[in-house]
Amino acid sequence: MPMQPASTEIASRTAAIIEELKDLEGPLLPILHGIQEEFGHVPQAALPVIADGLNLSRAEVHGVVTFYHDFRAQPAGRHVLKLCQAEACQSMGSDAVAAKVKQLLGIDFHETTRDGSVTLEPVYCLGLCACSPSAMLDGEVIGRLDDEKIEEIVAEVRP
Ligand code: FES
Repeated sequence: MPMQPASTEIASRTAAIIEELKDLEGPLLPILHGIQEEFGHVPQAALPVIADGLNLSRAEVHGVVTFYHDFRAQPAGRHVLKLCQAEACQSMGSDAVAAKVKQLLGIDFHETTRDGSVTLEPVYCLGLCACSPSAMLDGEVIGRLDDEKIEEIVAEVRP
């Protein structure tokens, strides 16, 4: 898995982000996005710093982080594979695609393979409905997923 910064470093970088954004109306989400941009995920060690900075309980902050699937509690793998699970893709078999990918990688959505090679996430419409079922690998969209393409993707993320 990728290395995580020490908790004191997380705390000080988190405090700087809070300082910058705390005067916004509804500052929690922008702060969490800022932290995820900084670290690639929202580290555990950042939660008490956010709670103190915004006068919230740790449980409230934790609740928001877990409610929004955009936020990752763990560092992402070297590749991020997102499978579209919205309606148009559903009607073209995205469930079967997801089941196959999960089986080949041995992980579920919101998980990262043990070797840190790939994180699997659902996404809800990539604007590629005409070519569904669709996916996004490291920011690049891929349409018309079939068994062959799925195998190619899996081979690419797990060399
Ligand atoms: S529903 Fe999957 S790309 Fe639009």
